[in-house]
Amino acid sequence: MILEVNDLRSGYATGDVLQGVSLALEGPGIVGVIGRNGMGKTTLMRTIIGLLPARHGTIRLRGEDVTRLRAEDRARSGVGYVPQGRGMFAGMSVLDNLRTGLFINDGRREAQFDLVYGYFPFLRQRAKQLAGTLSGGQQEMLALARALIGGPDLLLLDEPSDGVQPSIIDEIGDFLTNLVYAQGVAVLIVEQNVDLIRRVVDRAHVLEKGRIVATLAGETIRDGELLAEHLAI
Ligand SMILES: Nc1ncnc2c1ncn2[C@@H]1O[C@H](COP(=O)(O)OP(=O)(O)OP(=O)(O)O)[C@@H](O)[C@H]1O
Ligand SMILES: [Mg+2]
Repeated sequence: MILEVNDLRSGYATGDVLQGVSLALEGPGIVGVIGRNGMGKTTLMRTIIGLLPARHGTIRLRGEDVTRLRAEDRARSGVGYVPQGRGMFAGMSVLDNLRTGLFINDGRREAQFDLVYGYFPFLRQRAKQLAGTLSGGQQEMLALARALIGGPDLLLLDEPSDGVQPSIIDEIGDFLTNLVYAQGVAVLIVEQNVDLIRRVVDRAHVLEKGRIVATLAGETIRDGELLAEHLAI
């Protein structure tokens, strides 16, 4: 079991947003969490990585209870996180942005420069360019590469399709599928983009007002109309 979230509650001064969320990633593969704006997707990601404290429930990484660990310690134990909006340092070079991903490295894992340049060769060619001058899609790939460079075995992705043009969303989908197959990582992806979800996930949990109200898998996940219904008002 790579990630196990059990009965998680968390939120802000205004109250709990997550109302007892449970989900698990057993091994390599891609699990989605879908839901409309404001349903608690980012709150869930921030609580799993440790930027927001859990008020109730537990988070386990490879069996270890990390619920009270700091975010940097969770990251060091092999979790890559791509926040919503990517969190790029626009005024820093592509290479320096990539290097910030190495801080999660605890020395046990080798820096994966060859791996990320293999997936995204443009990052090597544009190493000195300022990250803020890349297109939305290229910035998303840089953010994915930065999360990957420390050699994580779990990736948390918060709406990677946001601000990315459709043809590049397909490319990112292919990248994720290949990554899981070749590197054996587990991916938890939060999305509203039906095309990306259908393309990559093994199953998707539907988040509504901080609760998982349905889980779609197999045929139902390939059915774009059904997926769209779950994302409609
Ligand atoms: N810092 C905050 N302080 C108070 N309330 C917040 C804060 N951040 C988010 N919220 C509220 O918590 C709820 C869940 O927000 P969250 O960002 O988790 O939703 P989301 O599903 O990620 O939405 P989106 O698809 O727009 O990114 C919303 O009602 C939101 O207004
Ligand atoms: Mg969000």
